[in-house]
Amino acid sequence: MKMKTAIIYATHHGTTETVAKQIQQQLLPQQVELINLAHNKQPDISTYDRIVVGSSIHAGKNQTVVQKFCSKNMPELLQKQIGLFLCCLNEKEFEQSMANAYPEILRNHAFDIQLMGGEYKMDRMNFIERFLVKKIAGVTQSQSLINYNNINNFVKSLRK
Ligand SMILES: Cc1cc2nc3c(=O)[nH]c(=O)nc-3n(C[C@H](O)[C@H](O)[C@H](O)COP(=O)(O)O)c2cc1C
Repeated sequence: MKMKTAIIYATHHGTTETVAKQIQQQLLPQQVELINLAHNKQPDISTYDRIVVGSSIHAGKNQTVVQKFCSKNMPELLQKQIGLFLCCLNEKEFEQSMANAYPEILRNHAFDIQLMGGEYKMDRMNFIERFLVKKIAGVTQSQSLINYNNINNFVKSLRK
């Protein structure tokens, strides 16, 4: 069956978009639309069979625009196939980050939920972000820690 899918996401420094594009490329790209909530805050989701929502954690929280999108569209989202993913790097907080990012009712409804790791992009950070990342994570150089294995597993569950 042909499934029309939207990957709806928000990103600070581009990693969530990189992950969204990876997922799109591994599915049939022409059947998957990428929607960045920074450019389209109220996308019409009525034409999609399946919605993937992606966001990232900064200082313990994911993007407000994603939280608002989920709460505004909850009744419709619960009528569709839903996949959720999150980019974040603090392993100790993975479970809590996921719980903070997406409402329980949506997590329970989702066919798959994955943590995709993340990246530190020093060139995209402002002074305060660089200071925080150094202080909290001890990171002073750019690093890519995207979990491609989890992306593959997510795509496998989308293909089922
Ligand atoms: C200023 C800053 C704060 C962050 N805070 C957290 C955090 O609280 N927990 C966490 O797991 N990861 C944290 N991260 C890591 C991000 O989740 C990671 O960089 C992710 O790839 C960002 O994705 P994005 O570019 O799509 O926003 C932080 C990163 C930055 C730059």
